[in-house]
Amino acid sequence: MDILAAFCAEVQEKEELRGIDTTVIQKIVTQYCTRKRIDLEKLTKRDLKIVRKEIRAELRLMTGRFRKQTEYSVGKDYAQIVREHRSTRERLAHASAIKEAIYASHPHSIADIGCGIARFLFAEPGVTYYAADINRDDLTLVEQYFAEKNIKGTVFVHNLRDSPETLPAADVVLPFKVLDVVGPQSYTHTKKLLNGLNTKHILVSFSTTTLSGKPMKYPRRRWFERVLNELQFPYTIKHYGSEVVYPILTHYTTGPSKTLTPVATK
Ligand SMILES: C[S@@+](CC[C@H](N)C(=O)[O-])C[C@H]1O[C@@H](n2cnc3c(N)ncnc32)[C@H](O)[C@@H]1O
Repeated sequence: MDILAAFCAEVQEKEELRGIDTTVIQKIVTQYCTRKRIDLEKLTKRDLKIVRKEIRAELRLMTGRFRKQTEYSVGKDYAQIVREHRSTRERLAHASAIKEAIYASHPHSIADIGCGIARFLFAEPGVTYYAADINRDDLTLVEQYFAEKNIKGTVFVHNLRDSPETLPAADVVLPFKVLDVVGPQSYTHTKKLLNGLNTKHILVSFSTTTLSGKPMKYPRRRWFERVLNELQFPYTIKHYGSEVVYPILTHYTTGPSKTLTPVATK
């Protein structure tokens, strides 16, 4: 095993990080080393420990914070997982109102990026559902759910830090509660992502509570509104309990899917 693979395997020894796709971890470690201009092979044991800690912190920020391994134990039904998972439990009371907003444009296809397990609330038979995440545990559950509920869909690993051009065209794209955690430089990633999505409608959501469950002092994301203004994407703001949702129109002129035509931004 080369040093990068061995180092990534060590990073992943923590239970809450095991589900993350290995290629995603390798890329994050490589980017970290480039950013900090370090060579793993030349680090002392002590320095390797520091790097491991920082990489784990970055990964936890992206994916591990809401996770308890017990949520995924075999034998639990989907409704139970939804009730026990903090992120989905928070939105249970408002799920049908959010679903109405998602389906307002009568989409034939939805791409849910950074999907987690929210699809248990939003996917519908008859609508093609693309579900992407960096966490294989979540994707496996989503895959099982689609098969059992007869939902036409594709489930795949995609890191939102990578180019959005490889994502499928869809009538609606949902980056829900993910843009805050996409990593350092959320602003840059988000602008590139939104501009590169092959869709007419995007619904972005953010949580309005802190990790400890308290209401945020500044729940609106001004940095995000700045991105939208710079892209000249019209948007509205809706509040659903502890979630703020931005329904956004892009510069694509027509739908559905394959006939979408991008309109150049200034
Ligand atoms: C707070 S959860 C939200 C899940 C779901 N969208 C929802 O609204 O319930 C954040 C999700 O984003 C995923 N995630 C974090 N960083 C990501 C990235 N760079 N690319 C793709 N998915 C990412 C995590 O694995 C996790 O499933």
